[in-house]
Amino acid sequence: MKKMTIEQIDLAGKRVFIRVDFNVPMTGEGHIREETRIVAALPTIRLALAKGGRVILASHFGRPEGKVMPEYSLRPVAERLAQLLGQAVPLAPDCVGAEVEQLVEALQPGEILMLENVRFHAGETKNNPQLADAFARLADVVVNDAFGAAHRAHASNVGIAQRVSPAVAGLLMAAEIDYFNKAVRHPQRPVAAILGGSKVSTKIAVIESLLDKVDHILIGGAMAFTFFKARGYTVGASLVEEEMLEVARRTERVARERGVVLWLPVDAVIAESLHSEKTQTVSVEQIPAGWMGLDIGPETVRLFERALRSVQTILWNGPMGVFEKPAFAHGTVALARCVANSSALSVAGGGDTDAALRQAGVAEHISFISTGGGAFMELLEGKELPGIAVLTDG
Ligand code: 3PG
Repeated sequence: MKKMTIEQIDLAGKRVFIRVDFNVPMTGEGHIREETRIVAALPTIRLALAKGGRVILASHFGRPEGKVMPEYSLRPVAERLAQLLGQAVPLAPDCVGAEVEQLVEALQPGEILMLENVRFHAGETKNNPQLADAFARLADVVVNDAFGAAHRAHASNVGIAQRVSPAVAGLLMAAEIDYFNKAVRHPQRPVAAILGGSKVSTKIAVIESLLDKVDHILIGGAMAFTFFKARGYTVGASLVEEEMLEVARRTERVARERGVVLWLPVDAVIAESLHSEKTQTVSVEQIPAGWMGLDIGPETVRLFERALRSVQTILWNGPMGVFEKPAFAHGTVALARCVANSSALSVAGGGDTDAALRQAGVAEHISFISTGGGAFMELLEGKELPGIAVLTDG
């Protein structure tokens, strides 16, 4: 997975097509709610400008399904980017076509043009050859910094990279690959994976893949209750996936056979509903009927802290409870602090994990937080990501 990077190529005077992932959360009023992905792409954009590139930025935003929908315009992102860079970031009226080609031709070294949402064209998500040709006409060099979209084989990441050479990794993409290699492919051992979230079914491919690679797996979040039910505990009204009970039993068996220590919670914060203010902390073997587990308890935090004490590498995906609600956030926050204080290399990503770490106020003490949701999960599942595979080898 070693790829050529933007640092290795000459960009002076070239049309540099940078695929970024500016698929950021917005408020109902169309304001950017979370700009991590924009900030994360700045080093690559700045480097391309400093090297004298004529920079063309392309991104998807939301899922407009091939229709031009004003609420999915990248205008708010272009405006914010202009503030962050301190230079004009004009937004093209479209992402391909004669008018866009003229705007690109007029670009001077050190200038930027941002293309409108690539998903306004139905061909984008189908990796349509004509659309990929149209993107390729805009570029002398392709830089892919859109790790968050690397699990998609679309026209603006894969199609264009099959047509333009070189197609290299941006600095963010290179860092994502580098930290994944350090944490999963060639880690310092022992390695612990912390896995949370509500469903075994969405995590089982990750668990199965990690059973070959790590020394400890710590399971939190509602998915732990499927494991408990499989062991025969009464779990009250906790979320359980009945169809995954056998899978949970098999996972415990395989972990034992391979010498992987599977750590499950010993206590839980429970309530009668997600909205209830009344909570109790009980042993996981004593959840009363009608009550559901919504966070790991303090004994579990201590147990997990002990499990992490001797490891060299920590991988984290998924919260330990319903961290969006203050009553059920303690477990996730306490564990986040423990990981942040650890001297182990720590890599987190996927879904809500970055939001949980930010809420805990420890994001800057994690070695690396991936910008990928689905892309990070697919890498953990051991899949090859098409957006990375297509890039020029380094
Ligand atoms: C993401 O937010 O995970 C990426 O930007 C990919 O978006 P998608 O799931 O709509 O393809």
